[in-house]
Amino acid sequence: MSQPDPQLLEEVTQLRAELDEANYRYYVLDEPTLTDADYDRRLQRLKQLEAENPSLISPDSPTQRVGAAPADGFPSVAHAIPMLSLDNAFSAEDIVAFAQRVAERLECEADEVEFTCEPKLDGAAVSLVYEQGVLVSGATRGDGRTGEGITSNLRTLRSVPLKLMGKHIPELLEVRGEVIMRHKGFEALNERAREEGSKVFANPRNAAAGSLRQLNPQITATRPLEFHAYQVARIDMANLDDSVMPTHSRQMQRLKDWGFRSSAELKVLTGPQAVVEYCEQLGAKRDQLGYDIDGVVIKVNALRYQRELGFVARAPRWATAFKYPAQEEVTTLNDVEFQVGRTGAITPVARLEPVSVAGVIVSNATLHNADEITRLDVMIGDTVTIRRAGDVIPQVVRVDVDKRPADAQPIVFPEHCPVCGSDIERVDGEAVARCSGGLYCAAQRKEALKHFASRKALDVDGLGVKLIDQLVQLDWVKTPADLFHLTVEQLQSLPRMGEKSSVNLVNALDKAKHTTLARFIYALGIREVGEATAANLASHFGTLQVLQAAELAALEAVNDVGPIVAAHVHTFFRQPHNQETIAALIEAGVTWKEAEVAQGPTPLEGQTWVLTGALESMTRDEGKARLQALGAKVAGSVSKKTTALVAGEASGSKLTKAEQLGVEVVDEATFIERLSQWEQSE
Ligand code: IVH
Repeated sequence: MSQPDPQLLEEVTQLRAELDEANYRYYVLDEPTLTDADYDRRLQRLKQLEAENPSLISPDSPTQRVGAAPADGFPSVAHAIPMLSLDNAFSAEDIVAFAQRVAERLECEADEVEFTCEPKLDGAAVSLVYEQGVLVSGATRGDGRTGEGITSNLRTLRSVPLKLMGKHIPELLEVRGEVIMRHKGFEALNERAREEGSKVFANPRNAAAGSLRQLNPQITATRPLEFHAYQVARIDMANLDDSVMPTHSRQMQRLKDWGFRSSAELKVLTGPQAVVEYCEQLGAKRDQLGYDIDGVVIKVNALRYQRELGFVARAPRWATAFKYPAQEEVTTLNDVEFQVGRTGAITPVARLEPVSVAGVIVSNATLHNADEITRLDVMIGDTVTIRRAGDVIPQVVRVDVDKRPADAQPIVFPEHCPVCGSDIERVDGEAVARCSGGLYCAAQRKEALKHFASRKALDVDGLGVKLIDQLVQLDWVKTPADLFHLTVEQLQSLPRMGEKSSVNLVNALDKAKHTTLARFIYALGIREVGEATAANLASHFGTLQVLQAAELAALEAVNDVGPIVAAHVHTFFRQPHNQETIAALIEAGVTWKEAEVAQGPTPLEGQTWVLTGALESMTRDEGKARLQALGAKVAGSVSKKTTALVAGEASGSKLTKAEQLGVEVVDEATFIERLSQWEQSE
């Protein structure tokens, strides 16, 4: 076999090091350094080099995260050291008693003992083994003695280093930790599952465990999982003993240096009182962490003392878990009501026998949609498990069918809107049912008005939810345009509205009339048109008239607009009642900046530009808007059809592609110069 070219080898090594470092910064430190484009460019280059030189492929290469499924399921893996559980503490007294037991055995005072405190993560425990710094095996906890070998799945987690970084790499290292899913990722995963009619997970712990047990690692790779290290189970380092890492906290620091994520909340504290305070403080922050924790793990910091204390049965004497109140509770479902949202979406809401869940009284929970009711097999009168975690809306996660009373009632999804009586429609393939009443429906009207007046839309100061409810109830406001005809006298006659607040509101409405096209489009509340899409539509079409007339193909040509959004926009502008509302708003004096409206001949008509890298003097969005105002189309990727590429600082794969295709590349200085020439010539 011929030796690989040293230059090639150097490039491959360098690319791998850069990609590993970028991964570490992004997934472990939360401090991204490379742009996505730069990361992709390097990864593509490495893939290309490895494809051309297969002998260079090594299992620890960043290209090798997603492998093939194991042929015969997961193998059993015996843990060299058992994965134990922890004793529990439920009160300050329990914590003090634990510290005293520790102190007695160590023959010292409890106030002198150094402890570490860190969140008890609620996910799936796993163990990772590294030999000579390379990941060789990963397993679940199983029964503590034997787990399942899920190495290929764990390799797909970008927070699991395939190779240890930095200095003093041990010959053998076994790291244990928890694989978790953050609330955001969990909700998005379930939302997708609900839309697709596939499996919905009851909580992030189940989602993490279920994702790790997928036979196909490609599926695991799509799940938003994170590995957080919490223990060094085995370490074997030549010439190094405990004097280098004499404590758990030092070990955790060392794990960070080697490329692991470990808790940013870890603290070293002396004596039980400080530990109790830590538990209280973390408890107060629990809802804001963005991931589930079920307590605090308290450990004796010195490894020497840990060894001296040893174990009893299945738990160590040197650690305990202080448990917070559960985030799931059992209660009774008394009734189901159907709420109507801004776009008419009907959401079944469970009315519950009030129950305290992790310190908050919960009396309502979402049931999402009709499919979810079927999936849960839930009836009125059932005993249900409710889950409330962080900012997530409380949900019904389980039904105890064995406890179903004889008089339990089925939940009947209405055929007519509970607010306006219009037909409820369910589009094939969509999980959501909607009221067809549009702005005729008071519920949709209220939500539409709230949206219209919100900060990112027309930003009407002083138009609160209660006032909107009254205005709709009194039928004074049927469409957003009616807001601008409200008078001080009218408003003053409402309860709790004095002269001053009425005058202020009328002034605020007057001020809100002067807006931008992007805000106006956003304020209309077109389905799936958020702030960013509205801005794209505005700068692409320049005028409302052009946007209103745009056909589907023209809409789909807009950046970030796919066929679904294009269809929503197209349908919206073809509805007579929406056309009337827009005309009435303009009639009422709503205007937007003339400058935004592209006028006359456009010098870049027919040209397609691409922007990449960071620009110093403006944001890319600004550059894009200016190009679009000049008539250019701005695309997301370089192709043969691209007229020119504006390459800012740290341009990545797009620059390479443009060079390959012979597309003109323009630097920032030239770009600015040309922009001002064109803008003046207009
Ligand atoms: S240390 C000897 N630290 O809690 C036991 N465990 O009952 C060492 N857990 O299933 C465990 N967060 O997966 C430790 N920061 C943390 C933890 C943690 C969660 C889990 C662990 C195990 C259970 C122990």
